[in-house]
Amino acid sequence: MKRWHYLLGGPALLLLIIQFVPTELPAVETDNSGDIIASGIVSEEVTKMLKTSCYNCHSNETEYPWYSHVAPSSWLVARDVRIAREELNFSLWQDYDMIEQLEKLDDIYLEVEAGKMPLGIYTLVHQSAKLDDAQRKVIIEWAEATMDVIAESEEDAESEEEEVNEE
Ligand code: HEC
Repeated sequence: MKRWHYLLGGPALLLLIIQFVPTELPAVETDNSGDIIASGIVSEEVTKMLKTSCYNCHSNETEYPWYSHVAPSSWLVARDVRIAREELNFSLWQDYDMIEQLEKLDDIYLEVEAGKMPLGIYTLVHQSAKLDDAQRKVIIEWAEATMDVIAESEEDAESEEEEVNEE
């Protein structure tokens, strides 16, 4: 038998076979009126960073790279995007209530400060998604300031309600 017979019988054959295992990549939706950016609370600078470093996993606007269509990497991508969207989906921002928005911003603050997001496995392949110290600082300051803005707007709404009730 020639050498390539052995090759085909081993890992190559296995790779070929696993291509037939069905994987469903989470659907892409580009028309998202409830997106966080559409809500006007994100500066242009932060918008750019979220789009480059987070949106492929944490939004409905995922741009799937070629390796997300080939097993076994497709399985990992499908799983990561599914879980990431469940935890935090920037496309559905306006569906979150005030408490949820505050929680998500707090999580963003902590994850980015600790350098846990974007995921290391992602920046390994997507170098441009890496955040340096200065960029991380901009994101965490934005998250903190935005939490204040959201909490204050709720307080204003409450005190207006009280005034109306007193009248
Ligand atoms: C490669 C996909 C990917 C990218 C890119 C990515 N994330 Fe995540 N993120 C995940 C996954 C998967 C989880 C859930 C599992 C986990 O916590 O590790 C997650 C979880 C989170 C959570 C919730 C953490 C918790 O435990 O409550 C926050 C907040 C978050 N990511 C923020 C971000 C931000 C901000 C960016 C961009 C700077 C980003 N992520 C980029 C995949 C990603």
